[in-house]
Amino acid sequence: MHASQGGRFEGKTALVTGGAAGIGLAVANGFFEQGARVVIVDIRGAEEAARKLDASGSRVRGVTADVTVDSQVEEAVSKATQIFGSVDILVNNAGIATSITPRPFEEIGTEEWLRVYDVNVMGIFRFCRAVLKPMKAVGGGRIVNIGSAAAFKGVPLLLHYVSSKGAVLAMTRSLAKELAQYNILVNCVAPGFTISPAVLENEGQMSQSRTISLQGRAIARDQYPEDLVGAVLFLASNEASFMTGQTLVVDGGTYLH
Ligand SMILES: NC(=O)c1ccc[n+]([C@@H]2O[C@H](COP(=O)([O-])OP(=O)(O)OC[C@H]3O[C@@H](n4cnc5c(N)ncnc54)[C@H](O)[C@@H]3O)[C@@H](O)[C@H]2O)c1
Repeated sequence: MHASQGGRFEGKTALVTGGAAGIGLAVANGFFEQGARVVIVDIRGAEEAARKLDASGSRVRGVTADVTVDSQVEEAVSKATQIFGSVDILVNNAGIATSITPRPFEEIGTEEWLRVYDVNVMGIFRFCRAVLKPMKAVGGGRIVNIGSAAAFKGVPLLLHYVSSKGAVLAMTRSLAKELAQYNILVNCVAPGFTISPAVLENEGQMSQSRTISLQGRAIARDQYPEDLVGAVLFLASNEASFMTGQTLVVDGGTYLH
């Protein structure tokens, strides 16, 4: 992969959680190609993914951290600021999604429910809390949360997942109201069913969700991680400097609002 010289994110540092694979990796690559310094945070594969994007390590670095552990989140943000001097953009993308087996809600165990919330909801809470100080120190920042179009559609058999993404939309709105005074803008991108590499490994999800998604889409083709990059970068850019608390649904025209 290559980096263009210059670009609209030159001088900015973007931290992407869950950036070692799928949508997060595509987004990390997008920021890199448009001139940003990038910190890929992931529970696995962060350093390797960073090296693949930028072998020199001068503009992309990987940090291994689990978004469910307070101290690891704090440490990841402090490493990012040590390496690149600031965190200007946070993309909260890490999530439990592709590994979930659809099942009736009454069969979802409490432990599995809490785990989904710990990653998908609390992980965002922890990262927003950790970047607050460094963002204030540089006079503001951008937060882009990755929600899901499923929260609008009311998808069955994934109640823990869908409701966790409902919480992401609500957090986006409340945080936007709370943080605008610091020039920190908070928005959300809600993808439709996206064929990230991990989805291909989950045959149950692949066969069920793919067919249903294709049937409901105005743009009748599969959605890939690269389809999300433009919307995330837009919300992190100067072009979106009067937008906060918004959710952009990027699903090929399935859920219309
Ligand atoms: N793929 C889809 O159909 C789809 C649809 C709507 C929304 N989303 C959302 O997009 C985001 C990315 O999804 P994806 O399809 O690229 O999934 P993925 O499974 O390919 O990637 C998720 C990444 O998050 C990382 N991660 C998981 N738990 C973590 C933890 N505790 N700490 C740190 N990192 C952790 C994983 O290692 C992985 O690299 C998720 O928030 C997901 O809910 C995905």
